[in-house]
Amino acid sequence: MQTVTDVRFPNGLLRCPTTGAALSIDMDGHLLRADGGVSYSFAGEIGRFLEPITEVDGNKATRAFYDNEGWGKHSSGLYQDTAKFVDTRSVSLKFTRACMVRLNNKYFRKGGRYLLDAGCGPIAHDELMSYDAAFEKRVCVDLSVAALAEARRKIGDRGVYLQGDLTNLPIETGSVDAAMCYHVIYQLPEALQAKAFEEIWRVLKPDGVAVVVYWWTNPKLAWRAERVARMFFGKQKRTAAPIAAEPTDASAGRPDHNVMSLDWFTSKKWPFEYSFDTYRTISNTMMRETIPNDWRGALFLKGLMLFQKLFPSYSGKHGEMPAIIIRKAAA
Ligand SMILES: C[S@@+](CC[C@H](N)C(=O)[O-])C[C@H]1O[C@@H](n2cnc3c(N)ncnc32)[C@H](O)[C@@H]1O
Repeated sequence: MQTVTDVRFPNGLLRCPTTGAALSIDMDGHLLRADGGVSYSFAGEIGRFLEPITEVDGNKATRAFYDNEGWGKHSSGLYQDTAKFVDTRSVSLKFTRACMVRLNNKYFRKGGRYLLDAGCGPIAHDELMSYDAAFEKRVCVDLSVAALAEARRKIGDRGVYLQGDLTNLPIETGSVDAAMCYHVIYQLPEALQAKAFEEIWRVLKPDGVAVVVYWWTNPKLAWRAERVARMFFGKQKRTAAPIAAEPTDASAGRPDHNVMSLDWFTSKKWPFEYSFDTYRTISNTMMRETIPNDWRGALFLKGLMLFQKLFPSYSGKHGEMPAIIIRKAAA
């Protein structure tokens, strides 16, 4: 048996999510083995730490959606998830992509050895691909094998692929330089969301930074922005509706969305320091309903981007989609 020096699973990166023991790789048996006898399948270059979905799985709906439909392709060439949930009209999509680029430039340029992409999906946008440019490896973790296989098709040996749960990462404490977790934690059951934040913090190296894109209930800034947009533009016509999703499997359903409030987050006693930045102050639904796909919409969103850049913390606290910045104290 080889110890974990393989480029895909370098030394000191992986640990058994059950016992916490270090893992070694058995290439011939397609297994990841932990001291103490536990082993996990390593098939299709993906370490598989999850049992098949059961009725009592808290992530049942989300897993079923992403494995059966979400990361399949729509006839437009987009992923089904993107077609269903993202405002893909050109003006809105350009704004969303600029929001991704802004966070990359601000938090991920320092680079390092490992970037954890927690709930990576298939790395659905080109703007997300470049996040790992300054890192040796992107450690991709997701519940969905379909997502990981697609991520691997895109970035190959630059990635490490782990089918695992964010609330129990198969990753050693203090081993990643930076982490991103975009649009994932609000999909977890409420009772498990704090554990997911803590797991991301646990695996960070001292001085490491994590950016968690979340979703607030009742965001007052988003509400005001919507009022202003409606005043200027009125309600958008049905042509602004999302591209119709084309279910590939009728049983796929929808992922869970358990969105919490700013008060919920700030009232918790976290073991880490955090601050607020913003991903995007308004939602896809609001953009579809209020922002015209023309020069007027583009101008409005340009103004919103300027506001986000000038007041990132306020926009993060009171906009719809914050970026929660978690830092691990330097050793
Ligand atoms: C909305 S997608 C976001 C994908 C990607 N982060 C992005 O921004 O495009 C959510 C992803 O998180 C994954 N996910 C949801 N709950 C998870 C959990 N508990 N552990 C790991 N991955 C999870 C889903 O399988 C899905 O691929």
